[in-house]
Amino acid sequence: MLLTILVTGCGENEQARPAIKPPTQQEVKQASPLVPQQKLAQVTENTRQTYQWYCAQCHGMKGKGDGINAKFLTVPPRNHTKAEYLETRTDEQLFEAIKFGGLSVGRAPCMPAWGHTLNEDAIASLVQYIRELCQCEAL
Ligand code: HEC
Repeated sequence: MLLTILVTGCGENEQARPAIKPPTQQEVKQASPLVPQQKLAQVTENTRQTYQWYCAQCHGMKGKGDGINAKFLTVPPRNHTKAEYLETRTDEQLFEAIKFGGLSVGRAPCMPAWGHTLNEDAIASLVQYIRELCQCEAL
């Protein structure tokens, strides 16, 4: 069911698409900044499972942007193994994209916001996991 909503929310069926409200600047500011400990977040088995469960349908099981939903999205999911792009992003930008969704960092709304589903530690670990996938460093 969730999948259906996500897909129609960003697919060809524009009419049925509910208005997606980007977070206000205030909401973004209120979010606690990435504290140093979170930068040291560890990638655990749990992180990998979270990625498979919530992210792989779009980003692909290996993060290559080729998940089963990818072809239904108007904007292709980011390939998390592509260092050339991810090197140009800071960890904070990735954190924000995951927490508040694509719109919050000037990217497509097809990238959902996970702040209501995942806590900040989980999101920080996902950022580190993406760094593992791209084998690259933050900007
Ligand atoms: C419904 C499909 C979908 C799901 C599920 C999804 N993403 Fe995305 N994601 C996207 C799309 C599409 C983009 C590309 C947005 C763009 O390029 O404008 C993206 C982009 C991103 C980016 C890059 C933002 C940037 O700077 O371009 C990150 C990081 C990311 N996703 C992480 C995740 C994580 C972590 C999860 C799981 C918790 C996840 N995504 C789940 C569709 C999805």
